[in-house]
Amino acid sequence: MHLTAEEEAILNGEEGETKQQLMEILVGVGKVFGADEMVPVRSAQVSGASYKTIGEWGLKWLSSLDAHAAVPAVLNPVGMDRIRWEEMGIDPGFAKKQLEVISAYERLGIRLECTCTPYYLNITEYGDHLAWSESSAVSYANSVIGARTNREGGPSALAAAIIGKTPKYGLHLVENRKPGIHIQVDGEPKGADASWYGALGYLAGKISGNRIPLISGIRPGRDQLKNLGAAMAATGAVALYHVQGITPEARVFSFSSEGLENIVIEADEVASLFTGEQVDAVAIGCPHCSPDELMTLATLLDGCTVTKPVYIFAARDVIERENEHIRKIERSGARVYADTCMVVSPALERYDRIMVNSGKALSYVPTMCGAGAVIGSTKDCIRAACTPDV
Ligand code: F3S
Repeated sequence: MHLTAEEEAILNGEEGETKQQLMEILVGVGKVFGADEMVPVRSAQVSGASYKTIGEWGLKWLSSLDAHAAVPAVLNPVGMDRIRWEEMGIDPGFAKKQLEVISAYERLGIRLECTCTPYYLNITEYGDHLAWSESSAVSYANSVIGARTNREGGPSALAAAIIGKTPKYGLHLVENRKPGIHIQVDGEPKGADASWYGALGYLAGKISGNRIPLISGIRPGRDQLKNLGAAMAATGAVALYHVQGITPEARVFSFSSEGLENIVIEADEVASLFTGEQVDAVAIGCPHCSPDELMTLATLLDGCTVTKPVYIFAARDVIERENEHIRKIERSGARVYADTCMVVSPALERYDRIMVNSGKALSYVPTMCGAGAVIGSTKDCIRAACTPDV
């Protein structure tokens, strides 16, 4: 792997122990994956931020580091809302540890924006190289924006944030971004909401595995693409997908399905995932809600009172910008939390069955929260938890 003189100097410890250690991580990853060189990144998104996942060892390691981020960098969701954690029923002992993890990242110059939707913060554009780590964010950056990122682990994303570079391999190279399977969707319902695309992604991810799907027969908008990609990244290992005529690289490169394995998914198969079972809580915002999704929720909840807990998750920056919608939503008794989510927070572990409008949550809630998950449209979710009926 070719290193510049500046990179060599960091590796030799000339800029301190922390940078040396982090450069060793980047060079190690680069060698394993056959990178020829490093590439500068425009931004980083660092996972391994929830105390639920990194524990005491991770906190100790973070606290031992001494450096500052070279590029804009944010965190993945943590185990609780940094401000409203008591209201979420979080144990004070857990909260103390979680706040220590957050301070350790802050000391390293990472922005205290804990979200899986960093693309709403305007830190990336088409063609940018990134070092993002949360699977749905990686999928959105690669597929919907046309930026380039591998799915980084927590330490390698942090290393990229501090050094400002990442090894150039995998999805950073244009030749690795071509489709490897064609998925043809039959019967896309007119006006289907994002949950339908989440359910489609739940099926398509299982079929695709780690191949890059070229999908035809659908015309999703941005929130629908977000849900589709998040689910494919959860049930498969899809870090990039193309939708014919819709996603930017599919339009630039006009990929053909010729010679690819062809799989058909019928609308009936997608519909069969919507079982309408009873639930004892509702969770929305996996991935974190967009401004448009918050507006839809405010409209649906206007004049209603929730009779079951309704948790909604979004980035703090988005919540602050959408103040009016948040007030309307919370007047119903539903709660909008920042910094965390239904999967990384221990708050939802107390329920038996949760309704979600996300294919990714359908896959993760049972394994990560130990609760059953039922998928419904956003309207179904509100209907399941509110009076009067919407
Ligand atoms: Fe985001 Fe948590 Fe879902 S990190 S994609 S809301 S599991």
